[in-house]
Amino acid sequence: MLKGKKIYLRALEMNDMDFMFSLVNNQEFAYWEGKNEFPISLKQQQHWFEKNYKTGYRFIIYENDTNEKMGYMSFKVTDDISRKGLIAIKLVEAARGKNIGTDGLKTMTSFLFNKMNLNRLYTHIIDYNKASLALFEKCGWTIEGAERQSIYMNDAYHDNILLAMIKQEYIGKEDDDFYLSLFKF
Ligand SMILES: CC(C)(COP(=O)(O)OP(=O)(O)OC[C@H]1O[C@@H](n2cnc3c(N)ncnc32)[C@H](O)[C@@H]1OP(=O)(O)O)[C@@H](O)C(=O)NCCC(=O)NCCS
Repeated sequence: MLKGKKIYLRALEMNDMDFMFSLVNNQEFAYWEGKNEFPISLKQQQHWFEKNYKTGYRFIIYENDTNEKMGYMSFKVTDDISRKGLIAIKLVEAARGKNIGTDGLKTMTSFLFNKMNLNRLYTHIIDYNKASLALFEKCGWTIEGAERQSIYMNDAYHDNILLAMIKQEYIGKEDDDFYLSLFKF
């Protein structure tokens, strides 16, 4: 378990399938992620789950105070030698705007840089997802560019913004001793 200030992250388990199904099969999340997808069946979800639940770093986010499930975070190493990978986060609606995303992202970042020796973390965010852009920028990530008009959503083309953080920047910028000290044992 990875413990932050307001949240803890525990590894995804087989019995999280219903929760994951509710997140994945949800047009609101698809909109924020810039995905145009048909709803998926429970069978498809089961198939994904059996194949993927043990791979990569996959976590359910819990709030410390209430012990309620607040969302999901994942990290996938995309290049072992270059030590880089892709991070994703989604919170249920009731959990948003309460710094849970900030705490989850900082906790995960600390784990990946301090413990797992990743060197570059990156993510893609569709241009209208202001909450997600604000979250990553607040946590010290840099906008590196945009794939222009890369995603068609609701009658318009949108840019897909690339954000990243490098280990050196994290160590240099992170002024929060709490997160820096996590996983140093
Ligand atoms: C994106 C998301 C993870 C952010 O998590 P969160 O817990 O709501 O964010 P926080 O409360 O930690 O806020 C982080 C910063 O973003 C800002 N922010 C939060 N919601 C915002 C919104 N709707 N519009 C603009 N800024 C917003 C906050 O003001 C805060 O900055 P501040 O402390 O300087 O004021 C969450 O909104 C979410 O899960 N959204 C739906 C799924 C999604 O978009 N996932 C990301 C796909 S790339």
